[in-house]
Amino acid sequence: MHPRNPPRSLLLLALAALGGVAHAEEPDKTSTSTSSAVVTPCVATATSGAFFDLRPDTAIVVPEGEKAPKGSPVQDYLARGWDYGHNFTLNLCGAVVEPVEDVVGVDRDLWRNVSAYYEIGRKVYSLGLESGALVPRGRKLVLQYTGGSPCGESEKEKDKRAFGVHEGARYKGYDDDEDSGSRHSSKDKDEDEDDEKEKDKEKEKEKEKEKEKTMRRKSATISFLCDHDPETPTAASFVGTDPEECAYFFEVRSQHACAMAEPHKPGSVGPGSVFAIIFFIAVAVYVLGGVFYQRNVAHARGWRQLPNYSLWAGIWSFLVDIFTILTSSCSRIIPRRRGYHTLSRSPNGRSRNRDDENRLIDQLDEEWDD
Ligand SMILES: *[C@@H]1O[C@H](CO)[C@@H](O)[C@H](O)[C@H]1NC(C)=O
Ligand SMILES: *[C@@H]1O[C@H](CO)[C@@H](O)[C@H](O)[C@H]1NC(C)=O
Repeated sequence: MHPRNPPRSLLLLALAALGGVAHAEEPDKTSTSTSSAVVTPCVATATSGAFFDLRPDTAIVVPEGEKAPKGSPVQDYLARGWDYGHNFTLNLCGAVVEPVEDVVGVDRDLWRNVSAYYEIGRKVYSLGLESGALVPRGRKLVLQYTGGSPCGESEKEKDKRAFGVHEGARYKGYDDDEDSGSRHSSKDKDEDEDDEKEKDKEKEKEKEKEKEKTMRRKSATISFLCDHDPETPTAASFVGTDPEECAYFFEVRSQHACAMAEPHKPGSVGPGSVFAIIFFIAVAVYVLGGVFYQRNVAHARGWRQLPNYSLWAGIWSFLVDIFTILTSSCSRIIPRRRGYHTLSRSPNGRSRNRDDENRLIDQLDEEWDD
């Protein structure tokens, strides 16, 4: 087939490729600089690149009358205590769904933040407040709750009792003083005693505060295990605690604890655009490299300096022929257009056109070479 129309579209494509590449690289830069600043709770990326998202394992509160989202747990996780004697209730990355009351040694305001607990009678012992700080450590994925009930509660209660007795003894002493004071019946002394009592109270308060600061509180450390079977529901098991009953360890098996590829973030370059960029770069290299080769090695001029000119021109003319055939068959249905009549004249006109263009390009080349 005789090559006819020059592939002008190729040049446009090359230009579009350069423009497209420049445009696509910009959002890429901004997204990498901003994505590191945002930390999503219950989501972690290991240094190895493994990505974990445990949010689907968090039991959620479903408002009354509404349906639970499909696949979301709506009940707290239970872990049997076995020899520990108490069963545990916990949620992952969130407070327990069933609200708790009478939490030992925890402010009332924080009762709704309790993430793990066990019960003795009606008393609730918290193992920590909610947290979404998922930490990957090598092949392990760990979540920790802190700020639970005070450790060694029974010990502390003994302390309190001892303290109370001591206090009583002191007050007894004051009573004695008071007795002797009343004997002297001095008003000033009474006032002094009031002052002293107040000072004592303040001191006690400070002591309490300091105690609060140094008080150890229960915590829960949860280690996650990957379970590839999607049929197995996420389950928690109690591993153990230290002799002081301060640190509690749990193991949770979940399919979401398996390393995943990081999902495509909005704004960054996805696999589709990466492919498009590579494609455009390849086209650009092909066109520019081809032109360079044809000009300097094959010494081609005019449209022939485009790479594989005859091939592309052949494809182009083939498409033109198909178009001609289609339009001519259409023109038979709609005879007024006379499509083939206008096209039948074209070969001569087009080749003359092409010669003119080639001459023009050669002229430009010569001017450029000078
Ligand atoms: C803990 O749970 C198991 C069943 O899961 C039950 O048999 C056992 O009585 C429970 N223990 C306590 C102390 O509630
Ligand atoms: C407790 O939970 C509430 C929301 O339920 C939250 O706003 C608050 O920051 C939490 N407090 C702590 C100490 O985690």
